Amino acid sequence: MTSIAIMNAKGGVGKSTLTMAIAETLSVWHEKSVLLIDADAQMNLSLMVMPPEKLNAARHAGQSIAGWLSSCVVTFQRSDWHGCVIGDISDVDDVTKMFIIPGDMDMTLVEREIAARGALGRARQSCRWLLDEASQVVDFVLVDCAPGISTVTECWLRECDWHLIPIKPDILAVSGMEYLRLFRQRNPGLGFASHLGVLVNMKDMRSPTDQMTHEFLSKDESLRCFPAAIPLIQHIQKAALFMKEKRSYQNKYPGDAGRALRDVTAEMIRRVSEKPPA
Ligand SMILES: Nc1ncnc2c1ncn2[C@@H]1O[C@H](COP(=O)(O)OP(=O)(O)O)[C@@H](O)[C@H]1O
Ligand SMILES: [Mg+2]
Repeated sequence: MTSIAIMNAKGGVGKSTLTMAIAETLSVWHEKSVLLIDADAQMNLSLMVMPPEKLNAARHAGQSIAGWLSSCVVTFQRSDWHGCVIGDISDVDDVTKMFIIPGDMDMTLVEREIAARGALGRARQSCRWLLDEASQVVDFVLVDCAPGISTVTECWLRECDWHLIPIKPDILAVSGMEYLRLFRQRNPGLGFASHLGVLVNMKDMRSPTDQMTHEFLSKDESLRCFPAAIPLIQHIQKAALFMKEKRSYQNKYPGDAGRALRDVTAEMIRRVSEKPPA
């Protein structure tokens, strides 16, 4: 159906955690199929949804986004990505139809290869093929981008249908968002994902300052700030640790955390069904 790049130029705002939590909520609550793409060489998202042995085996077999992109850049053929897709992921028992193309530390080498070969156009075209094809077979493709605007991150940002910006309610994370906005304006002719919204994460629900920041962001309509914010709580911090024993959705995201995730995903589904903002 659609593709979303999860991006903030700043690291540590919860991009990977939210990509996982949103995917699991879309799967369990909204019965949507989701393909995750771990586009960050840190591989955090991959490690959140599968055991390290499984990730290592996939990487050694070339089943990663770096392996796929590298072959596209070298051969410039419509390299098949299906073989890089790993199923049976997530430690939530009710998750179905959730898949991942894992991340790889070699992504930094692929970036160098793209630069050395002057192959940004090829890389971008390859990402477009993948996103076009994948959006026809799953409801959502979620791309967890690396922080900063590297060559490959630029490809995802320009080729995805939408981008979602998680931020922490602090000044640095807000600056990361501003940076992205300026980047987007620099070459409008090159195309860019439509802005799906700003999602406040790690909001301390008892902090008047965090509340003020959320209200301040919500006043600027162009930011499309989600009314629900994801609370700063230990459960979400712990959600990042993959558990070998499956657990229930309620156990992983209890109370306010689950409620906020369900509100946010319902709003996301509503927004992607509408015409993108101008
Ligand atoms: N809502 C939250 N409450 C508590 N901890 C969180 C929350 N969101 C993320 N974290 C923690 O913050 C850290 C950074 O999150 P991560 O998803 O890796 O950020 P990014 O991908 O933007 O670098 C991780 O330790 C994660 O567990
Ligand atoms: Mg991350």
